[in-house]
Amino acid sequence: MTLKLLAVTGTPGTGKSTIAKKLSLLLDYAYLDGNLLVKSAKIAKSYDKKRKTAIVDSSLFTHEVLKVRDIHSKKGFKGLIVDSHLAHFLPSKAVSACIVLTCDLKMLEKRMAKKGFSKSKIRENLDAEIFDTILVEATEKKHKIFKFDTTKITEKDIKNLAKQLKKL
Ligand SMILES: Nc1ncnc2c1ncn2[C@@H]1O[C@H](COP(=O)(O)OP(=O)(O)O)[C@@H](O)[C@H]1O
Ligand SMILES: [Mg+2]
Repeated sequence: MTLKLLAVTGTPGTGKSTIAKKLSLLLDYAYLDGNLLVKSAKIAKSYDKKRKTAIVDSSLFTHEVLKVRDIHSKKGFKGLIVDSHLAHFLPSKAVSACIVLTCDLKMLEKRMAKKGFSKSKIRENLDAEIFDTILVEATEKKHKIFKFDTTKITEKDIKNLAKQLKKL
């Protein structure tokens, strides 16, 4: 059986890793860390030193994610949840839902500062959040989108999201 994929995407600091791990437990899905995948599969085309960002071709990313999905298909999971700011570039026909996380700008700035991001990296990502860059890209890919604001959320909110996703 081909596993369902759930894409969890958003600007850095919106809470992808936090939410994706929680959802994977609530839904009995396997969890895939997109950053680790890029490193282990060595698919970064280059590394932008100034921006401290790996440049990754989205088709290579998709190829590697689908490989992981197929390996997990035999392990009894209900699906695979992909935690990555590239997750919305996966083809919509392979993805049952694309969760786009958002966050209030002041809070997002604080979270990125805590991650040790440089001023310019924080500015660039705040601009991406202001312009809804990821939401626009996910919409262009024609995903079934769940927009979820993580500024102030409770465990109950995450459980409610999981409930909605279970219905898919
Ligand atoms: N809902 C939340 N409420 C409060 N803090 C959060 C929430 N989600 C994430 N965080 C915190 O924000 C920071 C960034 O979260 P993280 O999951 O690493 O985001 P991402 O994976 O999108 O970069 C972490 O310090 C995390 O503990
Ligand atoms: Mg993360």
